[in-house]
Amino acid sequence: MTSPNPQQKDHWSAEAYSTSASFVPKLTQTLLRYLDPQPTDRVLDVGCGDGKFTELFLPSIAYVLGIDSSPAMIDAANTDYRSAKAEFRVLDCCYLDREAEGLCGGGVGEGKWDKVISNAALHWILRPESTRLKTLAGIHACLKPGGVFVFEMGGHGNVAEVQSALIYALVQNGVSVEEVRRVNPWFFPSVEWMTAALEGVGFTVERMEIEDRPTKLTADKNGGLAGWVRLMGARFLEVLPEEKREGVVRQVCEVLFTALTRVEDGSQWLGYRRLRGLARRV
Ligand code: BEZ
Repeated sequence: MTSPNPQQKDHWSAEAYSTSASFVPKLTQTLLRYLDPQPTDRVLDVGCGDGKFTELFLPSIAYVLGIDSSPAMIDAANTDYRSAKAEFRVLDCCYLDREAEGLCGGGVGEGKWDKVISNAALHWILRPESTRLKTLAGIHACLKPGGVFVFEMGGHGNVAEVQSALIYALVQNGVSVEEVRRVNPWFFPSVEWMTAALEGVGFTVERMEIEDRPTKLTADKNGGLAGWVRLMGARFLEVLPEEKREGVVRQVCEVLFTALTRVEDGSQWLGYRRLRGLARRV
């Protein structure tokens, strides 16, 4: 098994995720309908995080293995949900192709999973261009023939306002635009890119859609937009010395205030765009 890159800092904490992004596992009814969980299903959950999403389908299936590169999130998942039918393992999902043999039990080509699911994780996992297609090929290899891969992730144009404000604030603080683009940790593909990529590694794509889903930020004083930017934008902020990061968070919040805030109640909404699909290994 490949362990996650020890040089890479673990930005995640289950508590911070709950404070700033508790809505993520809740807005998943359509994805769960695509999963169509059955009592005999063995499911691989790619980028399972703290297991709160996994828990939603766990009662309806036979077994789940959740994998995620964050030791903090896997710790939380094992503490809260580990059982005879649920296990959670630290694994860098960017290298799923190399992991396929271990995850499949046999050689590549002998997938043992009925279903692979991924919620709100592939925009991180598919970010490195060099491993993107290999990761999708690894998912394909994990599935039994006839098995399905269902996913939801940020699609093209997702949180475009925050992305633009972060680029602007970092450039204002002396970082070159090329460097900001290099550290950008997100990949939000279009329907066309994702369909072609999945077909390219051997899937038959049965569903693929993009949906605008304005999403209300938490109102908690440690959450809100600032909490979201600190947590989700950590890899952007790390290009700056520590003492300059909070200034950038403030600047992003100021730039976005008018666009995100509803006058009737002061609530703030982000422009989430979800790319959702179902692909089958034939
Ligand atoms: C998303 O789920 O769309 C998302 C999460 C973190 C950063 C950017 C987007």
